[in-house]
Amino acid sequence: MALKREQKASRIVEPRTAGEEGSSFETSLRPQRLAEYIGQSKIKGHLLVHIEAAKSRKEALGHTLLHGPPGLGKTTLAHIIAREMGVGLRITSGPVLEKTGDLASILTNLQEGEVLFIDEVHRMRPIVEEMLYSAMEDYALDLVIGKGPTARSMRLKLKPFTLIAATTKAGAMSAPLRDRFIHAFKLGFYEVPEMHQIVERSGNILSVTFEDKAAYRIATASRATPRIANRLIRSVRDYAQVQKRACIDLVCVNDTLKLLDIDDEGLDATDRQILETIIDNFSGGPVGLGTIAAMLAEEEGTVEDVYEPFLLQQGYLDRTSKGRVATKKAYEKCGRAAPKNVQPSFL
Ligand code: ADE
Repeated sequence: MALKREQKASRIVEPRTAGEEGSSFETSLRPQRLAEYIGQSKIKGHLLVHIEAAKSRKEALGHTLLHGPPGLGKTTLAHIIAREMGVGLRITSGPVLEKTGDLASILTNLQEGEVLFIDEVHRMRPIVEEMLYSAMEDYALDLVIGKGPTARSMRLKLKPFTLIAATTKAGAMSAPLRDRFIHAFKLGFYEVPEMHQIVERSGNILSVTFEDKAAYRIATASRATPRIANRLIRSVRDYAQVQKRACIDLVCVNDTLKLLDIDDEGLDATDRQILETIIDNFSGGPVGLGTIAAMLAEEEGTVEDVYEPFLLQQGYLDRTSKGRVATKKAYEKCGRAAPKNVQPSFL
């Protein structure tokens, strides 16, 4: 039977089962409560205060924007917030909401205090986005009934709810939407000790025994990103199983990293290709994002959102008004002699 549009456009996660939905590998490793969540300590501190205050006032939590590179835990935090608030969670994403009716039916079905999570909120169509304004501000939907001279507008009251929106591109959001969030948190890359703890935690959940050096190696090779660490654990576990190793040691991890073409600093083949392209084809830059993407046969958005943030954070790349520039550290990484006037890395 065909699903109704509203069912297709979102899915519900019950409060008690938040995080248990599906049995995907990533889901099973997701922390369920703020206390279990490693890293992003400032964000956790803010959330604890706002959640406790909202709960004691018996109000919905203020609308919350989570932004930052992929894989750092925006979706995980949305699940945790709903669970900590003790409310249901409904999940959708910007590109899935094709029509205003898709959003309207989701909003009108929300129960009091529930969380609506919209992933990739910057990809929402303007007409759908505009419907969110009154929903966020007044818990109301302004609908136009009918067409032409007989058309009339009506205001539909909604139950108070919390919108949690996630984006890798906060800059691509319109100001009216951005301004309607009460809280905005930028997730940053994780420190190595935090990544080490996350690897240990995931290992425990999966009953995988790591030698300490092996867990640390996974932590440093994961681009400061929990999702990558968890995927790497999965690959290493498979490798160890095939090699019939009971305990995962440093050799297992290093062999797996070699197979995946991930180097000592956690850069993969595409990361290095980006740096080499800028150095070898454009004398170190500046070069535009579109040109780099075309040379690599990658989507511009993938280069910008997936690869660049870590290269920038690690000081391999600089972003100037004229384009991307390779730093001295990038020349060193690629084994090329750096010209005298090359930008030093500020890290
Ligand atoms: N798994 C993925 N991200 C995590 C985090 N921040 N804390 C604990 N476990 C995680």
